[in-house]
Amino acid sequence: MKSLKIGIIGCSRIAKRSVIPAIIKSKYAEVEIIGSRSTEKAKEFANEFNCEKFGTYEDVISDDTVDVVYISTPINTHEEWSIKATEAGKHVYVEKSSTTDFDSAMRMVESAKENNVRLMEGFMFRFHPQHQKVKELIKEGKIGEVKSFNGVFGFPAFPKGDIRYDSGFLKDSGCYPICASRIIFDEEPSEVFGKLFKNEKYCDLSGSAILLYKNGKTATISYINGSYYQAKYEVWGTDGVISLDRAYSVPPDFTTKVTLQYNAENNWEGRRTETFEIEPKDHFLEMLDTFCMEITGTKKAPFDFEQDLLNQANVIELVGSGKDSANRS
Ligand SMILES: NC(=O)c1ccc[n+]([C@@H]2O[C@H](COP(=O)([O-])OP(=O)(O)OC[C@H]3O[C@@H](n4cnc5c(N)ncnc54)[C@H](OP(=O)(O)O)[C@@H]3O)[C@@H](O)[C@H]2O)c1
Repeated sequence: MKSLKIGIIGCSRIAKRSVIPAIIKSKYAEVEIIGSRSTEKAKEFANEFNCEKFGTYEDVISDDTVDVVYISTPINTHEEWSIKATEAGKHVYVEKSSTTDFDSAMRMVESAKENNVRLMEGFMFRFHPQHQKVKELIKEGKIGEVKSFNGVFGFPAFPKGDIRYDSGFLKDSGCYPICASRIIFDEEPSEVFGKLFKNEKYCDLSGSAILLYKNGKTATISYINGSYYQAKYEVWGTDGVISLDRAYSVPPDFTTKVTLQYNAENNWEGRRTETFEIEPKDHFLEMLDTFCMEITGTKKAPFDFEQDLLNQANVIELVGSGKDSANRS
């Protein structure tokens, strides 16, 4: 398979720390051009990553050799650059959260479909094998019938002026456990209840949500900007619990653990715990390779990127709006 040429829009921290290093490691992708609002910054990034070409965002969009555009600008600018890229015939890998609201997500997906290109939201965490292990344990019946998902993501406060204070933390961190519950249950919630706690500038710094899934399954979600670091979830069933301590943001050299608790005998002393170590994996690289192989038709991806982006945007909007149903007719 020929490697796809990636154009970078925005010299962000996540591009520098994780995504460009993953592109460099990938057999299926290479960095073609780096775009920034500042020529100096673009040049600095280009030098650091041995990329010959750099320029503005428009230079990336109009570069004929670029196959895929990676967008990691503030969330309220994703739609603009995604549509410009898809109209120019480029595939798009857009950072989470994909955009500001469901209608905006629809416009992005429609533009991708009209221009016969692909669009993926960058939830890298789902490509980490630890979630596969969780699903295997559930399938093997280790926790009986699954009843609930409980996921939290929170961390010490981001410094003043960070881009997150413009779009809020539901779309920055709350979106992860919400996405994880959709993946673990492998379905979309039928009802959604959300409560967001906002500062004087109407930015949500924390919040909670309850999502109702089929057969009475529930997901409870909490996120906090300004807390002790936690990035967990647990799946609770009739016969046991599976938990992940580091579920969302995992460094590529970090060994994760999946913990299974169950009752060997029906009393407190009969409780058992098994821990499964999951080998380190660069989930950014896994995601990028999956996207590239889907684009080139080399290997089918495990889910429909565009539909998934819409489903996630739907739930996020409903949690954020305080509406009480996920049914959009
Ligand atoms: N998947 C993950 O693990 C992960 C982790 C962190 C963040 N993210 C996502 O990635 C995106 C970027 O986050 P980040 O923390 O890396 O952000 P960041 O370091 O603040 O970078 C954002 C970049 O956007 C560009 N930009 C364009 N318009 C801007 C404006 N009005 N104000 C500020 N910057 C502007 C800037 O690049 P130029 O100056 O070069 O134009 C800036 O470097 C967000 O969507 C975030 O949710 C994902």
